[in-house]
Amino acid sequence: MLMCQRTNSTSEKFFCEMTTMSSSSSRQFVRPLVQNLHAYVPGEQPKIKGLVKLNTNENPYPPAPQVLKTIRAAVDDRLRLYPNPTAENLRIKLAKLHRCRPENIIVGNGSDEVLALAVRTFVEPSSTTPAKKHRAGKADRSSASKSCVQYFTPSYSLYPVLADTHGALNNPVPLNSDFNLPSVAELKRGKQWNFTAALTFITTPNAPSGRGYATSTLDQLCAAQRGVVILDEAYVDFAAENAMKLALKHPHVLVARTFSKAYSLCFQRVGYFVGHADLIAALHKMRDSYNVNGLGQIAAEATLDQLNYYRANFRKIIATREKLSRDLTRLGFRVFPSQTNFILAQPPLFPAKQWLQKLRDRKILVRWFSAPEVSDYLRITIGTAAEAATLVKATREILRAKA
Ligand SMILES: Cc1ncc(COP(=O)(O)O)c(C=O)c1O
Repeated sequence: MLMCQRTNSTSEKFFCEMTTMSSSSSRQFVRPLVQNLHAYVPGEQPKIKGLVKLNTNENPYPPAPQVLKTIRAAVDDRLRLYPNPTAENLRIKLAKLHRCRPENIIVGNGSDEVLALAVRTFVEPSSTTPAKKHRAGKADRSSASKSCVQYFTPSYSLYPVLADTHGALNNPVPLNSDFNLPSVAELKRGKQWNFTAALTFITTPNAPSGRGYATSTLDQLCAAQRGVVILDEAYVDFAAENAMKLALKHPHVLVARTFSKAYSLCFQRVGYFVGHADLIAALHKMRDSYNVNGLGQIAAEATLDQLNYYRANFRKIIATREKLSRDLTRLGFRVFPSQTNFILAQPPLFPAKQWLQKLRDRKILVRWFSAPEVSDYLRITIGTAAEAATLVKATREILRAKA
């Protein structure tokens, strides 16, 4: 309130009164559900010179030169015009790639947007009571199902946030201890899984563990589910197999993909769903009129013309992943097998949170999550081979300093 005491002019006084008023009374206008929400926490984006940034699963390689050229060439008079509302040209190209029709595809402002659209399209809000209380209990399972957002833990930490913002019920169900998917029989025995949940998210390959899942296993789970299932394949280009065929086989399955990770386009925010035309048509009704910006559409279209460039990058990232996993294992880390562009590793000697700081002190940023099922681990994005070597060198130094 120091600012208030020094205020002299009328306008400053008004500002001061507004500030005081906003902290005491403006909160009343916010819905109780929103007041109690915990927002999604994105990874840090610090601007530290020389930082080795391995915390947000970005691609270490730039977009293809031709993609950059196409984006630059598009920055002209057309910026005053609205973009195509359904990203039509991009959907036509994606349909060719996935051997389906443009009606099977909806594009979003990143895959985060289409994931959020799915919650709003397929899940009934439960009520407007505070988000904290929203968890699908075992009792009254059938009436809760239409409001139930279901997912495995650990997986993408956005899912509970999407459920909470919608006033839906959460049904988080633990993966097996090695982060593998429980079988349908195990899920039935466990009685926690809801086979009639309105919406089920499966991150495949899993994040943050990196574990890949066989399409046949996913198929069995999809077949057993009565509600909509989203297979979130954000990292699938780094995996041995993908489950795209399930989106075209089952009428209740959507596959989510993104240009962010494998295609070096986080900045442009382009992601999409593939699935049955009826589900896609319903999702279109719920999106903003111009939800994908024009430069994003152009960038993604140009990307699809350069797939060989990107496939070469996948191979480099996979080779670095395998070498880094071996190197860290030799240094005493427990590294889970990964089918993604990151690894989950349990470090030796110190708790993972201390490793986070020790690496940060050496200008290397990795990710640590406080959730109990992963708090013993570091999630390390696969950068260039040189960045991986820097990480291994720093790790050796940290271990040597302790000895
Ligand atoms: C599993 C998973 N799905 C989806 C996304 C969202 O990607 P985007 O919104 O950049 O397309 C992420 C991003 O980290 C992710 O980890």
